[in-house]
Amino acid sequence: MAALLTTLTSIAAAGTLMFSSAVNTAAPQNDPNGILLVNRQWRISEDYVPEVRMTDVQGQVRRLRPDAATALEEMYAAAKEEIGVTLVSVSGYRSYSKQQAIYKRKLSNVGGSYAKADEYVARPGASEHQLGLAMDVGQKNSKSGLTASFGNTKGGQWLRENCYRFGFILRYQQGWEDITGYNYEPWHVRYVGKELALSIQEANVPLETYLLSLREETLMNIVK
Ligand code: DAL
Ligand code: ZN
Repeated sequence: MAALLTTLTSIAAAGTLMFSSAVNTAAPQNDPNGILLVNRQWRISEDYVPEVRMTDVQGQVRRLRPDAATALEEMYAAAKEEIGVTLVSVSGYRSYSKQQAIYKRKLSNVGGSYAKADEYVARPGASEHQLGLAMDVGQKNSKSGLTASFGNTKGGQWLRENCYRFGFILRYQQGWEDITGYNYEPWHVRYVGKELALSIQEANVPLETYLLSLREETLMNIVK
């Protein structure tokens, strides 16, 4: 409980900061809980490199921070046991330079439209993947890959309904595009720890909205 309170305090602090209009540089290395909000407005500095390890699961690019890696391994084992599906890791930790390359490629694929590219890919420093806490998940032998149709697969449905049990949240859900700034991504999970993931799952709102409600609650308690 004490850990959760510390986490919530750090989140409330981040929530307080997230409503300025400027682009800000987050410093996750100063956050012992590693729960900072990272999005288009709150970016990570170029030189931030978390400690990551390879996860012991199928897939190719699969590095995460140790806590998140262990949680991912448990989640994949549970998916196999509960529904007989092998989940695979498609993309985990991404360095700043890797994000630059991915953004450049997407920009070229969409004919040079920054607005269009921004719907799909975070600009360098704005991706949760740089935190080492996000994974793009697929289903073995499925043609859906990283597409919206993954959300309709057995594995995709299970992931949406169960990832919180292992400390992950499904970050970019359908109907949340105006708040998250990104298209529906049924494959992208972000590690926040089990207690927080349960709380966010119950609230059923984007991380940005959840942080705002925490901030309001904190302010109400101060006023009381
Ligand atoms: N596709 C997500 C938003 C990312 O690039 O991190
Ligand atoms: Zn992702």
